Amino acid sequence: MSQYILALDQGTTSSRAIVFDREGGVRSAAQKEFTQRFPRPGWVEHDPLEIWSTQSGVAQEAMTRAGLRAADIAAIGITNQRETVIVWDRRTGEPVYPAIVWQDRRTAGLCEELRARGHENTFREKTGLLLDAYFSGTKVRWILDHVEGARARAERGDLAFGTVDSWLVYHLTGGELHLTDATNASRTLLYNIHTGDWDDELLGLLDVPRALLPEVRSSSEVYGTTAEGLFGARIPIAGIAGDQQAATFGQACLTPGMAKNTYGTGCFMLMNTGPGAVPSANRLLTTVAWQLGGERTYALEGSVFVAGAVVQWLRDGLGIIRESGEVEALATSVPSSGGVVLVPAFVGLGAPYWDPYARGTLVGMTRGTTAAHIARAALESIAYQSADLLAAMGQDSHAPLRELRVDGGASTNNLLMQFQADLLGLPVVRPRVTETTALGAASLAGLAVGYWQDTGDITRRWQVDRVFEPRMEEAERGERLHRWRRAVERSRAWEE
Ligand code: G3P
Repeated sequence: MSQYILALDQGTTSSRAIVFDREGGVRSAAQKEFTQRFPRPGWVEHDPLEIWSTQSGVAQEAMTRAGLRAADIAAIGITNQRETVIVWDRRTGEPVYPAIVWQDRRTAGLCEELRARGHENTFREKTGLLLDAYFSGTKVRWILDHVEGARARAERGDLAFGTVDSWLVYHLTGGELHLTDATNASRTLLYNIHTGDWDDELLGLLDVPRALLPEVRSSSEVYGTTAEGLFGARIPIAGIAGDQQAATFGQACLTPGMAKNTYGTGCFMLMNTGPGAVPSANRLLTTVAWQLGGERTYALEGSVFVAGAVVQWLRDGLGIIRESGEVEALATSVPSSGGVVLVPAFVGLGAPYWDPYARGTLVGMTRGTTAAHIARAALESIAYQSADLLAAMGQDSHAPLRELRVDGGASTNNLLMQFQADLLGLPVVRPRVTETTALGAASLAGLAVGYWQDTGDITRRWQVDRVFEPRMEEAERGERLHRWRRAVERSRAWEE
């Protein structure tokens, strides 16, 4: 009798695998970082084969650590860094180019060109996204335009495009299946979130042949099984969702109006808006939260590109901490940032500004400024950026939020979470299991194979670890937000 669910969480900096039991508890986990390549300023690439080898390696390792064999796994759920593009040969599985990562800005010019030709509204209405280099569509086009012979091979149907979920499914099934789920498709600029299909007009505008695209399926169903011999026995693959959507599911934000914020490399805030796709008047994204059966649930999303990554910058760029974990102690060694504000627009600014030409800005320094003030300003920048997202979300949804659920690496930082609650004027709620992304993917898979009965199981399992209540006076909050917005203005349109 199979007793566990295996979640594969393929993130931007590491591949992880987690085995969950029926209570949603973590039975075992394994993780491996992989190579980040920055071949030119603004470019970010991964080796697709390394993504696969690390992911399959940690899957095996997590099972071995728990003393489990493939037959003990009821199903696999996949969750992944979104938007990242891989194009490969359907027959051999050989990638034609490295994976172009979501953070990569090489197609900013192409986005501008499409905007100048007046196409932004078409993309916005059909996909819920903006014309930004963040999304997959222009990256696919770049590969077809720049890799010799790729376009002809794509038109002949010899190549396959996929986000990381598709790439993993292709390899897990020994090259048998080429598919994706609606959440991942909704990040490509090629998928119509209202009809639930690839959109011919958008494919035409981006010059991407349909023959390249995966089949779009729901987020919870048995798509197929792992190839014979990969893990010993065949395991059903039964859940797929982009990592931010999976985290929203794992946080049990299952009713409209509930929202979560994940503090990872970037920050991603999603609010469930139910069966209706709510358009944003504040430059947020409208996206598919998940599709169960034929029914799509939608979300409003705000994406911040640099959040936890700012702590890595303190470590690797400035060298003022040796390990990321040291940041809280350094930042709390001073009572405030001493007027210093850091806008970490290292790769431009995401929502709600969408300025690919903004750059990092540090203002307000005096002779008294120390590394501790800068560390504190860096941590605060994560909360300020999230406050901008929440303000936009509140205006779009017309329903005030009652609380914000948080997860991701930096959500364990108590100083940051308290400051976040203070800035938002809202309770910030951290759950006991912060592995919400993997848990969300496991839940989608578990539901599909009847391991869990219904979404009520997810709500019942979700438990609070700590609630951070807002303590800051209204006037101080307003003053701080005002100063932050002045600093943001200084960072904008810097790179020409
Ligand atoms: O949209 C990008 C997002 O999916 C990446 O998430 O957790 O890999 O930084 P993460």
